[in-house]
Amino acid sequence: MCGIIGYIGGGNAAREVYQGLKRLEYRGYDSAGGAFLNGDELVVVKKQGRVEKLLPFIDGLRATAGIGHTRWATHGAPSDGNAHPHTVGDISVVHNGIIENYAELKSELVADGAVFVSDTDSEVIAHLLNKFYDGDLAYAMKKTVDMLEGSYAILAVRRGVQRIYAACNKSPLIIGYGDGENFCASDEPALAGKCDGISVLDDGDFAEISAEGVIIYDGDMQAVIREISPNLAVCENLGLGDCPHYMLKEIREVPLSVTQTVKAFAGAEQKLKAAFAGVDRIILTGCGTAYHAALLGKRYFEIFAKIPAETEIASEFRYKNPVIGKNTAVIAVSQSGETADTVEAARLARGLGARVIAVTNSRRSQLNRVADAVVPVAAGVEICVAATKSYTGQVAALLACAFAVAGYSYAEKAGVFGNIAELCGKVIENIDASSLAHLCSRSRGVYFLGRDLDYAVALEGSLKLKEISYVPGEGYPAGELKHGTLALIDENTVSVFLITDERLAGKCANAVEQVVSRGGRAAVITNVNGVPEKLPECVEHIILLPECEPYLAPFLTAVAVQTLAYRTAVILNRDPDKPRNLAKSVTVE
Ligand code: AGP
Repeated sequence: MCGIIGYIGGGNAAREVYQGLKRLEYRGYDSAGGAFLNGDELVVVKKQGRVEKLLPFIDGLRATAGIGHTRWATHGAPSDGNAHPHTVGDISVVHNGIIENYAELKSELVADGAVFVSDTDSEVIAHLLNKFYDGDLAYAMKKTVDMLEGSYAILAVRRGVQRIYAACNKSPLIIGYGDGENFCASDEPALAGKCDGISVLDDGDFAEISAEGVIIYDGDMQAVIREISPNLAVCENLGLGDCPHYMLKEIREVPLSVTQTVKAFAGAEQKLKAAFAGVDRIILTGCGTAYHAALLGKRYFEIFAKIPAETEIASEFRYKNPVIGKNTAVIAVSQSGETADTVEAARLARGLGARVIAVTNSRRSQLNRVADAVVPVAAGVEICVAATKSYTGQVAALLACAFAVAGYSYAEKAGVFGNIAELCGKVIENIDASSLAHLCSRSRGVYFLGRDLDYAVALEGSLKLKEISYVPGEGYPAGELKHGTLALIDENTVSVFLITDERLAGKCANAVEQVVSRGGRAAVITNVNGVPEKLPECVEHIILLPECEPYLAPFLTAVAVQTLAYRTAVILNRDPDKPRNLAKSVTVE
């Protein structure tokens, strides 16, 4: 899963490709590269590491066309050799996706004398294009993709041919139409400010792109027209402001994410209500943080709309032969709207007759295209790989949905969201997680514990900490501690308890006792009156949050655990914005 970009036209192709790669870096950042038509030459540059590493090598080029790639390794370690483009003969290729039958194809090609120089699945594409090329790269592309199984968005160029050739299947590819120049890219944000119109290619499509125009073919190589719609991606101010990292900046944007999301919800409310008519069962699905938001959404639908709700991790859901009726609503939650597991889960649900509702921070994504109704998350662009403001935006959107399905009008509940935003603002302003972060940074394991809604946020706190600080740990239901996890507790572990529901506070305090009496280090994040007094004296860290209704507390505890994870990562000198081995958007299964 990676980002790809292509440019052809009168501008500086190397610069355009470089800028596009910078905007696509969230899709992967372990290596990057480009292939450029520079006069009569085909110049290929590829480097392990971030996109910036390319700059010194491409700065002086006067290329008229180029293709670029930013990688998140699936097959083959991050290295210069495994970076894209892959070049065979005079043809260079970039690929996003996974070629599932690459091993068989490689064996056949090797038997024919091909010499492979990388460990990637993608290199087979370059060999096949070279093998099938007889003066027509469009034809070679068709013959090549006929051999491929799996997912792909491919761009190819050949020395001496002023064209970019593209093909895609189950990996996104869009065309951007400029004036005397044209683009193609994995997604719309890569083309922000670059062109006014875009087309989204269908699965199986091919495109032949020149400076003068674009011809799109379907899988039978018949020329087709794909709708051109306005490019909605805007060049937002994506600077860091006075923050050292995007993660901190984006945590500070949590209140805005909540208010903007609820404002945007007003426009989606009627369509959502229509999609929910007659629904008697809800399944919420997503991956990672989005799944954790779904866990809270489930409880909101149960509490307010009184509709039975379940959650399923999207990557599991597809393989369970889910039982779905026409009165089942499947809510797919995804920041990017491009997560392959979630998109495929939504597709499956739709195929089985469910109403599919997408809750997404992307205005135009694969998930939006699959869904019957879209509930927007208006968190704004999230750069940091670790989701923060998009999570609280998702939770706000799901709460707004539950209210609407329960029959409350938008106006009736608008004040609730204003209140959440204000309280989150107070937490952001006042929280001091530094000393607890120091303790976590020195620990062997950090366990986040809570009950009911606090448990859902405990899972998210644990994921956030692992993701950006690499300190191991787990999120656990506080009541389950005594059924096994307690065996892990010793003086080198930290247990962080979330306690925001008065009904459960006493029982959670018992669990704190169980930890400290076994020598474990404990911390408590709470907003329940009287809890600090009930805790054993040796609880070293107590983070107090403003009081609120229990169903609103996840917004506040989320900000607290996000801040704790951020501080811990910084103490350990990790890059919280680009954690190792990860990518923001996971477009492979
Ligand atoms: C969150 O911090 C993670 N980076 C990850 O779990 C993410 O939430 C997950 O990959 C789902 O992404 P999506 O919301 O774009 O579908």
